[in-house]
Amino acid sequence: MCGIVGYIGNENAKEMIITGLKSLEYRGYDSAGIVLNRGGKLLMRKESGVIANLEKRITKKDFDGNLGIGHTRWATHGAPVRENAHPHLSCDGRIAIVHNGIIENYMELKEWLIKKHGIAFKSDTDSEVIAQLICVYYKNDLVAAVRKAIAKMRGAYAVGVISSDDIDHIVAVRKDAPLIAGIGEGCNYLASDIPALLKYTRDIYLIENDEIVVISKEDIKIFDDDMTRVKREKMHVTWDAAAAEKGGYEHFMKKEIYEQPEAVNQTLEGRINAKNEVKLDGIKLTKKELDAIDRIYIIACGTAYHAGLQGKTLIENFARIPTEVDLASEFRYRAPIIDKNTLFICISQSGETSDTLEALREAKRKGARVLSVCNVMGSSVARESDDVLYTWAGPEIAVASTKAYTTQLVCLFLLSLYMGKTKGTLPAKEYGRIVGELKKLPAKMSEALGTEEHVAKLAKKFFVREQIFYIGRGSDVGTSYEASLKLKEISYINSFAIAAGELKHGPIALINRGTLFIVFATQDYLYEKMLSNIQEIKARHAYVVGIAKKGNKRVKKISDDVVMIPQCADEVASILAIVPMQLFAYHIAKLRKRDIDKPRNLAKSVTVE
Ligand code: AGP
Repeated sequence: MCGIVGYIGNENAKEMIITGLKSLEYRGYDSAGIVLNRGGKLLMRKESGVIANLEKRITKKDFDGNLGIGHTRWATHGAPVRENAHPHLSCDGRIAIVHNGIIENYMELKEWLIKKHGIAFKSDTDSEVIAQLICVYYKNDLVAAVRKAIAKMRGAYAVGVISSDDIDHIVAVRKDAPLIAGIGEGCNYLASDIPALLKYTRDIYLIENDEIVVISKEDIKIFDDDMTRVKREKMHVTWDAAAAEKGGYEHFMKKEIYEQPEAVNQTLEGRINAKNEVKLDGIKLTKKELDAIDRIYIIACGTAYHAGLQGKTLIENFARIPTEVDLASEFRYRAPIIDKNTLFICISQSGETSDTLEALREAKRKGARVLSVCNVMGSSVARESDDVLYTWAGPEIAVASTKAYTTQLVCLFLLSLYMGKTKGTLPAKEYGRIVGELKKLPAKMSEALGTEEHVAKLAKKFFVREQIFYIGRGSDVGTSYEASLKLKEISYINSFAIAAGELKHGPIALINRGTLFIVFATQDYLYEKMLSNIQEIKARHAYVVGIAKKGNKRVKKISDDVVMIPQCADEVASILAIVPMQLFAYHIAKLRKRDIDKPRNLAKSVTVE
C-alpha cells in the first residue's frame, strides 16, 4: 500500500507534503516523489529509496508552490526505481498524478493509449496509465477528465491529481483504496492515511468508494459518481500518532490480521478473469517447460515453510508433479538432486531471508528454474528468480506473519491451478470449483474474523498455560504447525504441533489431566479419523477445543469447546482455519503482556544464516 499526501493553501506545500510522507514511513516503501504547482508550472522530483534521498533533490529555494501532491511507493508493478516512482506526469507535462492500488486492466489501456494516441510511456507501472488517460480527456476541465479516465479503469485506486492549468484545486478519487481529506485553516489536505495529517489537523472527511473530492484552499467538495454533491459529516480524530499508524488498532499484528480479507482480494485482483480463468502476471512457464519438469522443490523458512506444506498438496493434486517441501536451512546440506528439469519454488515474505536466498542460489547453480512467491517487489529473492508471483499483501510490519501467510496460500492455489490447467492434469469441473472457492475467500475470511469474541474468551481461560498442543490431519497438519508457531513467537508458550496420527507413536505420553489440545477437524475426508483422535485424547482427560466447519455437530458434541469456521471446500479450509488461531495467539500474548509486534529475539527478516 502506498502513501499519498496533498496540500493546498498559502504556505509552501513542500514542507507539509514531505512531513506528511515521513509520517507514513512506517508503512514501508521503496521510492518517494513530489510535484508542486508553482504559478502554473509543475515542478516534480522523485527518487528511489528513502525520503531523505528525495529531500536532497528539493533543497533549492525555487522548488516551492502553494499546491502539491506527494507519494511513497510500495512497488507492485515495475521495479522500485526512480522512473517508476510517483508522481507520474502526462506526456504533455500538464497533468500529475499519485496513485495507491492496482489498475487491473492497465495493459489493455496502455496498448490503446500507445496505438490510438501515440503516447510514449516513461515507466513500467500501471499508475502512469492514469496520468495519460486523464491527459487524453483533458479539455481544461480536470474533474470531467478524471471522471472519463476512471470510467475506463478497473481495479483498486486512490488517485490524487493536479494540473498545471489549475492553481486552485486538487482532485482526488477513491475506489477500494483508502483516501481522506483534511480540513485546515486557510488550507486543506489530502492523504491516504490519518497519520500523515495529525501534525496539521484532526478534522477529516473519509472519502468513500466511487466518490470524487475537489479540494481548494477554501473548501472540500465531495461528489458521488454522478456528480451529486455529498454531505459528509466531519470526523474528529482522537488517536495519537502511534495509534493512527496502526489504523486505530493496538498492534500492527491485529491490524494485519484484519487486513487479510482485503489482502486476499488484492492477491486475487486481476488474476482470475471474467471467464474464471487464472491469469498469472510474472509467470512465464510455458506448457512445454512445465511438461519437462519432473521434480519440484518448495523451499522456505518458518511461516513460509508452512505455506509450502499446503503448496505441495495443491501442486501434486492439480499438476501431478512430484513435489518436495524442505526447510531452506536444511536444503543445501542434503545434496539435493537438481537439474534443468527441476522447478525450485521459494516462498519468502521479505525476499531477504538468508537461508532461503542461499538455497535459491544453490538451486540456480545446479540449473533449476526458480519461481518465487514474494511480498516485496525488487527484493533479492524476487530479483534472482526466473519467475515471481507477488502476494501483494502490502507491507507486513508485525514480526509475526499473518496476511503474508494467507496470501502465500492463495498464490500457491493460483499457481497450482495454472499448472494443472496448462498441463491438462486438472479436470475443468474441478478447476472451476476451486476457482469459485477462491473468489469467495475474502468474504469468508471476514466471517472467520467474527470468531474473535469467542477466541478471546478461550484465551482468557488458557493464557496461563505453559503447554498447548495443536493437531490435525491432511492440510490441517500445516495449519497446526502455523498456529503453534504464532503462539510460540508472540506469547512465548512452548506450544507443540504434530500430525494427529503421530500422537500414539510417543507424544501421547505427554497428556496430563486438562492438557489443552486444539484439534483441527476441517477435512471432511479425514473426519472420522479426527473424531477418533478427539476420543483418544478425551479418554486421557485432556481438554479439547475443536476447530471445525460451521454446523459440525459431532465435533461440538465430543469436544469441550469448538470454534466454527465458515462452510467451505476442504482445499481452502486451511486459509480460514488459521484466522481464529492468529487471534487466539494474539489475545494470549496480550494477556501475557508481551511485545506483540516485536517479540524478543526475533527479527522481521532473518538476514543471517
Ligand atoms: C513468521 O511469523 C516468522 N516471523 C518467521 O517464521 C518468518 O516466516 C520466516 O523468518 C521467513 O521469513 P520470510 O517469509 O520473509 O522469508
